Amino acid sequence: MMKIISTIPDLRAQINEWRSQKKTIALVPTMGNLHAGHLSLVEQAVADRVVVSIFVNPLQFGVGEDYQTYPRTFEADCEKLEKVGTHLLFTPSMTELYPAGMEATSYVTVPKLSNILCGASRPGHFKGVATVVNILLNIVQPDKALFGEKDYQQLMIIKRMVADLFMPIEIIGVPIVREADGLAMSSRNQYLNAEQRAIAPALWKTIDKMRLESGERNYTSLENQAMQVLAEAGFKPDYVAVRQAQTLELPTAADKNLVILAAAWLGKARLIDNKIVSF
Ligand code: PAF
Repeated sequence: MMKIISTIPDLRAQINEWRSQKKTIALVPTMGNLHAGHLSLVEQAVADRVVVSIFVNPLQFGVGEDYQTYPRTFEADCEKLEKVGTHLLFTPSMTELYPAGMEATSYVTVPKLSNILCGASRPGHFKGVATVVNILLNIVQPDKALFGEKDYQQLMIIKRMVADLFMPIEIIGVPIVREADGLAMSSRNQYLNAEQRAIAPALWKTIDKMRLESGERNYTSLENQAMQVLAEAGFKPDYVAVRQAQTLELPTAADKNLVILAAAWLGKARLIDNKIVSF
């Protein structure tokens, strides 16, 4: 039976009990509206106890973004989490996590990685992500925490934060789960109408076709071509970028661990995707 807890003292009491029994603990932070991508994080959490958090974090939404309308599906989420063997669901309120208020709270920023790519288009977004993940990791104090590779830049930022701040927690990235036509699963896919949904898989198909393995090293030209393909397909492309896989810096000719990252608008939905390439 999955426990549902919404206060920090209750959560800490449960964690302390498990710790006294020498149980290992994994945390899967989410914003709810769970799909197969989230559930694969829970399924791949190898630990005695798996804690999932659901918190739609206002600090990571910019002005005019979809905080108010972000899909909230608590009952359905609980059913799905039960089925995949979640032990505890943590559902804190705003005041529980930000007792000083969102504007006054202490925060964490990860320089360099946070202002590029998605961070350039969404100022303050990664400060909000790093801060809430830091808070959740401090509350739960898990042995490991799992995050989807779809939010690749987020994953690199969290790994950097945990390394820089010497937090004794293993951060695990879990591969993207895709629909049958290749579209990466995302809560924001619901914003697409039927016509946009038919176009959406072209985001993945376009970056999948950028065959870096084949020896082409003019990455800028590949990026520009991909942006054009996306625009012609009906997207408003934000960026397509070939980057070094860990630092997200521009790759040198010698770099062999790369990632192609892309973000593009389709109507109300800002879709992101990526492909890790090693050669
Ligand atoms: O990826 C998400 O759902 C969120 O950014 C996270 C990591 C739960 C922080 O709010």
